[in-house]
Amino acid sequence: MKDKILHKIEKRDIKLSVIGLGYVGLPLATEFAKSKIQVIGYDTDDKKVEKINNGISYIKDVSSEELKKLVEEGLLSATCDSTILSEVDAILVAVPTPLSKTKDPDLSYVLKAAHDVKKHLRKGHIVSFESTTYPGTTDEIILPILEETGLKAGKDFFLAFSPERIDPGNPKYTVKNTPKLVGGVEPFSTLVVSKLYSLALLNVVPVSSAKVAEAAKLLENTFRSINIGLANEMAIMCNILGIDVWEVIEAASTKPFGFMKFYPGPGIGGHCIPIDPIYLSWKLKTFNYTARFIETATDINSNMPRYVVGRIQDALNEKAKSVKGSHILILGVAYKKDIDDLRESPILDIITILEEKGANVDYFDPHVPWVDINGKLIESKGTEPDYSSYDIVVLGTDHSAFDYEGIYKASSYIFDTRNAFRNHGIKDTEGKIVTL
Ligand SMILES: NC(=O)c1ccc[n+]([C@@H]2O[C@H](COP(=O)([O-])OP(=O)(O)OC[C@H]3O[C@@H](n4cnc5c(N)ncnc54)[C@H](O)[C@@H]3O)[C@@H](O)[C@H]2O)c1
Repeated sequence: MKDKILHKIEKRDIKLSVIGLGYVGLPLATEFAKSKIQVIGYDTDDKKVEKINNGISYIKDVSSEELKKLVEEGLLSATCDSTILSEVDAILVAVPTPLSKTKDPDLSYVLKAAHDVKKHLRKGHIVSFESTTYPGTTDEIILPILEETGLKAGKDFFLAFSPERIDPGNPKYTVKNTPKLVGGVEPFSTLVVSKLYSLALLNVVPVSSAKVAEAAKLLENTFRSINIGLANEMAIMCNILGIDVWEVIEAASTKPFGFMKFYPGPGIGGHCIPIDPIYLSWKLKTFNYTARFIETATDINSNMPRYVVGRIQDALNEKAKSVKGSHILILGVAYKKDIDDLRESPILDIITILEEKGANVDYFDPHVPWVDINGKLIESKGTEPDYSSYDIVVLGTDHSAFDYEGIYKASSYIFDTRNAFRNHGIKDTEGKIVTL
């Protein structure tokens, strides 16, 4: 069996399914299809499935043109029918791992996917879970579900965890060239799953266990969360001290060793950085250990929207204005630049708090046509908002598409949470920009 599987991979005689065709799954499926591996994606969302089969992409990093070509060549298709899983040789799982209302890991999507795999599991199947999760999920939860079939991992089927590290919107590091960690539930699974990824990806890095791969992903994102938290607290401290935090960061970064730049901002967003560290701290709570760095960084980062609103309030106060009744334009609502993803975006919290305080808030984001603020739909202002009509323009997301010079000229007052105007070479000769 083992030689047969390795031989099949070597011959590239592999049919693959990706479960979950979202921000992670669709680029992954596309990458394998581009490497001439036939991919049949499985998703419970029939709208996504229909779009894929019509060659229409809903993910920025995948163009409709390349998707259409792969669909026409028969290399990529999608279905809502899970029976496809019994027809393929390999299954990669990229379903969501959010937090529950009580801020605990919500593994319901992973469990549903594991049960779908179990239903169709057969000898020779190669399975890799990519959804970010706490150490132990693959060994302690997924493996027992799959082995309920009577099939044994390492003998009958092969199971690994391989974290997805995709950075949406990053033109330099894509699915193809970002090193891919693979940790199997036993050594042969690590080998088989590594060889499988090598069919499409440039750099596969095997590690000794699924737990190491799970923990490595959480370390990466916890590292970011904590360092962003430090930068945010530095911004708060510098404001108290009357020092420009942006200049401090640039000054510190002239040290060529032992320092790495992180920037403050309006808070953290996306499906990863605000959530993943909590998966780690939750797991440690089951051992009666408190992950103090994670809790402190989470606390600082999640309070940034309220801090930003406080600073906007101070800025308006300088002009003898109150937040209540003021007209505020928010520039950029996506959680980071040049993308359309609103998940966990702190800018939405800023809008909510400003509205609660009685401000009239509009927004302009070329990537996001509308937002839902507590059940109320707000549309993005057209391409040329009347900047001069607002009491303050708040830069929330530093999209490249903004005309920074034009906005500077047209606005009377600006609060910049990202230092974006200076980064775009604007000299504040009129003293109308306040930065975080
Ligand atoms: N988005 C990122 O930048 C990113 C980066 C690295 C890792 N991750 C991790 O990757 C995982 C997936 O994230 P995402 O951003 O792609 O999520 P997503 O919400 O964009 O996509 C998930 C897809 O899975 C589908 N789905 C849900 N349950 C399913 C099921 N049981 N069977 C079939 N399809 C199902 C949904 O319909 C959706 O299309 C998460 O664990 C996330 O933490 C995300």
